[in-house]
Amino acid sequence: MSIRRQRVLMFDSGSGGLSVARAVREQFGGVTDLVYAADTAGFPYGRWSEVMLVRRILKVMRELITAVQPDCVVIACNTASTLALDVLREEFRVPFVGTVPAIKPAAAQTQTGVIGVLATPGTVKREYTRTLIHTYAFHCKVLLHGAPNLAEIAERKLAGEAVDPADLLAEIKPVFRMRGGNKTDVVVLGCTHYPLLLDELKQVAPWPVEWIDPAPAIARRTAFILADRGAHSQPGEGGSISPDTVVLTSNPAGGQLPAGFKAMGFSTLKVLDIPV
Ligand code: DGL
Repeated sequence: MSIRRQRVLMFDSGSGGLSVARAVREQFGGVTDLVYAADTAGFPYGRWSEVMLVRRILKVMRELITAVQPDCVVIACNTASTLALDVLREEFRVPFVGTVPAIKPAAAQTQTGVIGVLATPGTVKREYTRTLIHTYAFHCKVLLHGAPNLAEIAERKLAGEAVDPADLLAEIKPVFRMRGGNKTDVVVLGCTHYPLLLDELKQVAPWPVEWIDPAPAIARRTAFILADRGAHSQPGEGGSISPDTVVLTSNPAGGQLPAGFKAMGFSTLKVLDIPV
């Protein structure tokens, strides 16, 4: 009898979760099945009101969990995790791994005491984010900035468009400051789309900093949850969606699987039409 491999559902509003999928593939992709879901009909999440976004995430997640029957869901989206993780854990039995701004490691790493946090306009407004700062970085100067267009710039890059350095600089400049004679030395990438622009960000940054991409830590946490679950139960039956599928909630341009997903080892496209 063949035993099914454990199945991870990776979820984001768009392609940002690919930065996390990359880390999962690198760390333990050989032993785990991956299905990626992007709420492309709802993108960008950074502009939604909190009440409407919670409803949207629950609605999409109900359909996805039924179709995929995952053993673990990774919410590879800070904008969704900082808002809806508790609600999701109450509503569904499957374990969830969240992605929240890496403020704790940034506070441990800074030498100057000046930290930049780049995130979506939604994430910077969250109580969750404020609490992370008050708990772990109360002794630091934290420059928290809601970048209005950075996630969309990352989507355009993945779609093959050129990235304008001036646009990029305008998005990140507010976290590069001098405070009491000290400069920002650590910048948290508080949106999973941003590591996909890391090379370009390094080029336009006013000075070199440590960029914190939480993806490797999220992948480690996911591996831990699956190992723990595997020790106590068999993987489930599996839903109707096969591994290496990308599920989108709207039709992609050209009706094709977007190139960025193919490059990350995804081979099949499934559209689950969930209009906003
Ligand atoms: N990738 C998402 C995040 O980590 C958000 C992008 C968006 O939908 O605004 O926050």
